[in-house]
Amino acid sequence: MNRTHLTPSLIIGTILVGAAALLTNCASVDNSAPPAAGSTATSLPLRDDTVFMTQIKPLLELRCLECHNDKDAKDYAGLSLQTRQSAMTSGRSGGVLRPGDPDGSLLLRVLSYGHEHPVAMPPSPDKLWDDKKKLIHDWIKDGAVWPEPPRGRLIRPQDVWE
Ligand code: HEC
Repeated sequence: MNRTHLTPSLIIGTILVGAAALLTNCASVDNSAPPAAGSTATSLPLRDDTVFMTQIKPLLELRCLECHNDKDAKDYAGLSLQTRQSAMTSGRSGGVLRPGDPDGSLLLRVLSYGHEHPVAMPPSPDKLWDDKKKLIHDWIKDGAVWPEPPRGRLIRPQDVWE
C-alpha cells in the first residue's frame, strides 16, 4: 500500500478506529466492576448466580459457616464468610476472597494446606474433595459471582438445626 497518500478510505478507516476506541473507553468507564483476570472486556462475568446458589453457597454453609459467621468470627481469625462483602474484607489478612484471582484468595489456599498446618481448613479430618476445590477455584476465577443480601447472605448451620 502507498502510505504517503491519504486516500478517502484510509481517512474513513482512521475515523472509524478512533470512534471505536472512544466507544470502548466509554464502555469501560461505565463498568463499575473490574473484569476478572482472564476475561475480556466484552465477556464480563455473567450475573448468573446459579453456580453460587446451587453449589458454592451450600458448600460454604455446611463446611465453613459454623465458625466463620458474623456472630462468631471473633473466635475464628475474625473471618466471616456470611456475605461477599465480609469475605472480601474480614479476617486477619483483611479479606480472603479476591474475585478473578483464585491463587490470591486465601479462602481457596487454606483448603489445600496439609493437616500439620495450623490454618488447614476445614479443621475436621476429612478434607474437601478435589472436585470441590476445583469448583471453588473456577467460581473465583469467573469473578466470584455472589448476590447481595438478603439473597446472598449465607445461613449458619446452627440457625437451621437449633
Ligand atoms: C470448626 C471451626 C472452623 C470451621 C468449620 C472452618 N474454620 Fe476456617 N478458621 C478456624 C480457625 C480457628 C481459624 C484460625 C486458625 C489459626 O490461625 O489459628 C480459621 C482460619 C481461617 C482462614 C484464615 C483467615 C485469615 O484471615 O487469616 C481462612 C481463609 C479460613 N479459616 C477459611 C475457612 C473455610 C473456607 C472453611 C470451610 C471450608 C473454614 N475455614 C472452616 C475455624 C474454622
